[in-house]
Amino acid sequence: MSANTLTITDNRTGKQYEIAIENGTIKAIDLRQIKTDADDFGLMTYDPAFTNTASCKSRITLIDGDKGILRYRGYPIEQLAEGSNYLEVAYLILHGELPTAAQLKDWSFNITHHTFIHENIKKCIDGYHYDAHPMGMFIGTVGALSTFYPEAKQIFDAEARRKQIHRLIAKVATIAAFAYRHRMGLPYSYPDNDLSFTGNFLNMMFKKTELKYQPNPVLERALEVLFILHADHEQNCSTNAMRSIGSSEADPYSALAGAAAALYGPLHGGANEAVLKMLNEIGTIDKVPDYIKRVKAGEFRLMGFGHRVYKNYDPRARIIKQVADEVFAVTGRDKLLDVALELERIALEDDYFVNRKLYPNVDFYSGIIYQAMGFPVDIFPVLFAIPRTSGWISQWQEMLLDDEQKIARPRQIYLGSEVRDYVPIERRG
Ligand code: CMC
Repeated sequence: MSANTLTITDNRTGKQYEIAIENGTIKAIDLRQIKTDADDFGLMTYDPAFTNTASCKSRITLIDGDKGILRYRGYPIEQLAEGSNYLEVAYLILHGELPTAAQLKDWSFNITHHTFIHENIKKCIDGYHYDAHPMGMFIGTVGALSTFYPEAKQIFDAEARRKQIHRLIAKVATIAAFAYRHRMGLPYSYPDNDLSFTGNFLNMMFKKTELKYQPNPVLERALEVLFILHADHEQNCSTNAMRSIGSSEADPYSALAGAAAALYGPLHGGANEAVLKMLNEIGTIDKVPDYIKRVKAGEFRLMGFGHRVYKNYDPRARIIKQVADEVFAVTGRDKLLDVALELERIALEDDYFVNRKLYPNVDFYSGIIYQAMGFPVDIFPVLFAIPRTSGWISQWQEMLLDDEQKIARPRQIYLGSEVRDYVPIERRG
């Protein structure tokens, strides 16, 4: 008997089975042979919310939740945040290796020259109500892109895929900024190809009457770091949505709109918006103990705390705290930071949070920084979606090129009625 196997005894039948172990997993389909009789469908696993199921093999991002480690393609997030920029990280995530100087120049040129959107896309945004949530506009408009690029359906054509990848990484920033300007009733500010990716994003967001927008270099760099931290995070809810929709061979714009919709929820990318609302509601440090009491009583969750995978400090939160200091040196200190620091201090000493291994996650401090930089609260989830686009699209491509993947189609445990006859309406009690 091989050492890399699992022996299972089915106590219903007394039969023994030997199941192969590979990469610390067993294949769920190998359990199907375990039956009580020939008519039995076979054993399945039950795993709502995928808490212990690997849905793919991936070479992109590693998270070690117990050690608080995050790496893209093997590179520690701390080193990338220190030395890289968002476009270089997007290249790395997608291609697997850091670019050479020539490759980076070419890649940056390609992304920069796809930042313009068709004027009719602009009309789609114009059609939204004046107070539409920017994330709703973002999701709808990204989905609409698929109607502008019908060749995007050729998902197995590497060249067609390459084009959509450039377009998506570039255009999500323009769509995000245009959604914001529509919300504010401001004229759209067109992309400026002389600027960096983040500098241009700030230009599209905040340019007023000046002829040439000059981003503040500290804020431009801070945004680079925030975008690096948000670029990928392995099989989270929205990435799972991207892979799942993509597995039906839908075009990448439609799949990405679905992924962005998954990100919108307050338990995922909508948490940064929820954190700011929470901090505003608490208002002052003296209200923190009472708020924590209500969290412990189960009234609501402490937003920006806890993570499915990290059971140690979220390494992204640690980097973000440093960025906060640099940003506040330019913008002035936000009073909500004191509330956040006090919440963190009390929570980290409290048994409720310690026992459940609940630590601040990436969203706990990102919102305060975004607010200090002048971003309105409801665009925060969109700010998450812009860099995560490179992660979604890399995971989508990896899934498409993986021979072991097929259309995603989970099983269920049916607990509904047995077969029964239809009753005409006049005979129903
Ligand atoms: N505040 C208070 N209690 C919490 C929290 C929280 N933020 N998160 C988890 N718990 C408790 C939960 O009530 C449960 O307690 P008990 O065992 O007594 O029932 C225990 O901790 C385990 O929680 P869970 O819901 O089983 O954990 P999960 O892995 O399903 O949820 C989570 C992970 C991130 C959805 C959750 O921690 C949460 O809702 N956090 C707040 C929202 C948030 O900040 N989301 C951003 C995540 S990071 C950005 C991203 O990548 O999306």
